[in-house]
Amino acid sequence: MSGPFAYRGTDLWVEQLPLSGIVEQVGTPCYVYSRNAIEDRWRRFDTAFGMAAHRVCYAVKANPSLAVLGLLAGLGSGFDIVSEGELRRVRRAGGDPRKVVFSGVGKTVAEMRYAIGEGIDCFNVESESELERLERTAAAMQAHVRVSLRVNPDVDPDTHPYIATGMRDNKFGIPIAEAPRIAAAMKGMRHLVLVGLDCHIGSQLVSLAPFEDAFARILELAQMLRASGHRLEHLDAGGGLGVRYRDEDPPEPQQYVDRLLAMLAERGLSDLALIIEPGRAIIGEAGILVTTVEYLKSVPSRRFAIVDAGMNDLLRPALYDAWHEIVPVRRRAGPESTYDVVGPVCESADFLGRGRQLCIMEGDLLAVRTAGAYGSSMGSHYNSRLLPPEILVDGDRFEIVRARAAYETLWAGERTMGEQAPLVTPLSRGK
Ligand code: LLP
Repeated sequence: MSGPFAYRGTDLWVEQLPLSGIVEQVGTPCYVYSRNAIEDRWRRFDTAFGMAAHRVCYAVKANPSLAVLGLLAGLGSGFDIVSEGELRRVRRAGGDPRKVVFSGVGKTVAEMRYAIGEGIDCFNVESESELERLERTAAAMQAHVRVSLRVNPDVDPDTHPYIATGMRDNKFGIPIAEAPRIAAAMKGMRHLVLVGLDCHIGSQLVSLAPFEDAFARILELAQMLRASGHRLEHLDAGGGLGVRYRDEDPPEPQQYVDRLLAMLAERGLSDLALIIEPGRAIIGEAGILVTTVEYLKSVPSRRFAIVDAGMNDLLRPALYDAWHEIVPVRRRAGPESTYDVVGPVCESADFLGRGRQLCIMEGDLLAVRTAGAYGSSMGSHYNSRLLPPEILVDGDRFEIVRARAAYETLWAGERTMGEQAPLVTPLSRGK
């Protein structure tokens, strides 16, 4: 095991700290991230471009923790957002709105207004109706808005169907064949400027081939639009580069970027800037979920390790049948048994891993690996469970970047029917 989480003797460490020491202070379940791993991964994408004009826009949905966003903002990252909430997080963490692209099929008028007001760089528009709405909204604000058309290139990304987004039948993007007509119609929209094209075909892609297929189609479209007088400034290849959960061997950022740049050059389009929107490949391997074995329980056909983290903390196994490596925080000597590692939530889909070989006892700590992306960000309060705390480790020190929540946070803003609503007015606040 390598990377930021590695054994020293029998104990699992993160950077220069033993995990057990951290957990003693914050309890479980908790997410633990490595600052160096996050920054190293972002830099690998960024430096891969060399002198070529580019922007790495971290996909906030992968992990929107203020601490993560703050680190990346500090490196000069751009951000790919899909909601007003994500943009507010980016702003709160010190991110530059002029480096933000706004994706997503369902942008509301309120979200458009907020994003225009904040001065984001570009809207990645996914339908004709959205384009018309954006034109009306921009006109009402007397603003000029930069637009990239998100096209659907109809490419099979060879990943789980729930995270494939660039096939003909997916809800995402504008069918590529319609893009020239829509781009032409944009010439009549006085508040919108077409500056780019983008696509995002899916997530956890472990080979370059689908990226190449999609990008080739985008390049062909870019040439066509240029020939008909559109002044494009950038192409955005989306996110999607995979990570290693088990035995996958995804391309390195450098290989991926080299290929995109080479394809731009082959088509004579090297004057266009390149945007990418990686999420998982930056944060995935930089985080783990630590959990305690509460009970060991056997039924005739199997053994369960019932742990204190559940599908509300890490939904990926339940939702996508995703495989995450589960390892002990302190290795024991002794024979292993086969366990289904399950959570306390009242659903049979509440498992973190099935059929795992472990030598464990009640009270032991387990680490669920490669949980930095789409772990915490997909967390919920289901079963009225608290969101876990989050810890960021930097060398031999750590910070609690999300505190363990208080139970009152579970019902914040709620009241029983007929109960007096709390009076919070600007005048009474703070008194
Ligand atoms: N850009 C757009 C427009 C996206 O929709 C996504 C992810 C990304 C970038 C970042 O993709 P990444 O580099 O992280 O693969 N919850 C699922 C993943 C959903 C991804 C949705 N879109 C999972 O846990 O596997």
